[in-house]
Amino acid sequence: MAAMPEISFTEYAERRQRVLKHIGADSVAIINASTLKTRNHDAEYIFRQDSDFYYLTGFNEPEAVAVLIPNRAEGEYVLFCRERDPAAEQWTGYRAGIEGAKAKYGANESYPISQLAEIMPKLLANKDCVYYRMGMDWIFDKQVFTWLNGVRAQVRAGIKAPTTFKMLDELVHEMRLIKSEAELAVMRHAAQIAAQAHTRAMQVCQTDMYEYEVEAVIAHEFRRHGMETAYTSIVGGGKNGCILHYIENRDPLNAGDLLLIDAGAEYQCYASDITRTFPVNGKFSPAQKALYQVVLDAQYAAINTVRPDALWDDVHQAAVSVLVDGLINLGLLTEAKDKILADSLYRKFYMHRTGHWLGLDVHDVGAYKVEGEWRRLQAGMVLTVEPGLYIPAEEGIDPKWWHIGIRIEDDVLVTESGCEVLTAGVVKEISAIESLMAQGKGI
Ligand code: GLY
Ligand code: MN
Ligand code: MN
Repeated sequence: MAAMPEISFTEYAERRQRVLKHIGADSVAIINASTLKTRNHDAEYIFRQDSDFYYLTGFNEPEAVAVLIPNRAEGEYVLFCRERDPAAEQWTGYRAGIEGAKAKYGANESYPISQLAEIMPKLLANKDCVYYRMGMDWIFDKQVFTWLNGVRAQVRAGIKAPTTFKMLDELVHEMRLIKSEAELAVMRHAAQIAAQAHTRAMQVCQTDMYEYEVEAVIAHEFRRHGMETAYTSIVGGGKNGCILHYIENRDPLNAGDLLLIDAGAEYQCYASDITRTFPVNGKFSPAQKALYQVVLDAQYAAINTVRPDALWDDVHQAAVSVLVDGLINLGLLTEAKDKILADSLYRKFYMHRTGHWLGLDVHDVGAYKVEGEWRRLQAGMVLTVEPGLYIPAEEGIDPKWWHIGIRIEDDVLVTESGCEVLTAGVVKEISAIESLMAQGKGI
């Protein structure tokens, strides 16, 4: 089997070095892992690691805290985690343990998570500044302040308590915004499998199937490649396609309707995010075709703006301009283009923006504005480009358009010379969709 792309432990160590260098000698950075969340009674949701924690550690267990301490003689990276415990592991699975945290994950020192309250005040002693993600988790906030009080209690022994708390978010999120080659390899893989899943959905879709049956085909493609769903798949036929985050996925699919599928695979915690819209019975009606082509043209126009130095908002404005032209041509908007743009009248049919950053989070971190101005794109950023049109059933709108919901979404990497569409593996041209569906192919 071919080697699967992955992020090396050296790369995780380099990321921590960048944080250590940035925060400086008198500071400490604390990053907590995700906790298990109850689904019902004593059953939990599948564990998903906190993205910042994972980005800096590669450690995929709950009940862990990473502490970065510049210039510390005993080592700059301390990882608190669960101890090995054969009896507990028989019930809930393997643990790296204290030795694994050091040997495999590169911690200089590792302690049982049960010793956090005892050891943290010592790590914070005589430090000036604490970097952490305030307000993300109230229980953790309370713990941090308890440790602070633990240091304050020692002032008469000549120990100085931290005086400054800073947010760690911006530093780590700016790092996460620019993807490394290894991250891109992982993201390409997630994108490719997601594209395969959408292709299979088009191949299996038949009138009278249920939305969840198509969802199951997508989930099967993800799981057979060891991937998770990056977010709950949206599989909406007919008017359900007009609900932006429709996740019930339980209605039958009717001939003559479109099916909108927004589904992405997650690989090693990195997301892909694809939307395709296609006719349930394999043939676009003239009205569907006309609207679909407008959205597709808007998407091409938006993707065409993606290059270094373009403004984040250029991508959205390019899509809006083409969508508005199309809505005017089709008689769905009757005002002058200037007025439609100035008063955002298009929002009746296009109420979301054209994309978002993509990475460890599907709506990934990183600022969209810098010093009050739209951010300029840079090589290594990954964004989605996802224009859509959603036509309500309303008086004043020709019924031939009612309930048509269309979105087309791809994942796009900014390169030195322009861009690369990571999700090009699934078709989106009308003729290509129709011929793929005509070929069909069972479940
Ligand atoms: N799948 C959510 C989105 O496209 O933003
Ligand atoms: Mn998206
Ligand atoms: Mn999406």
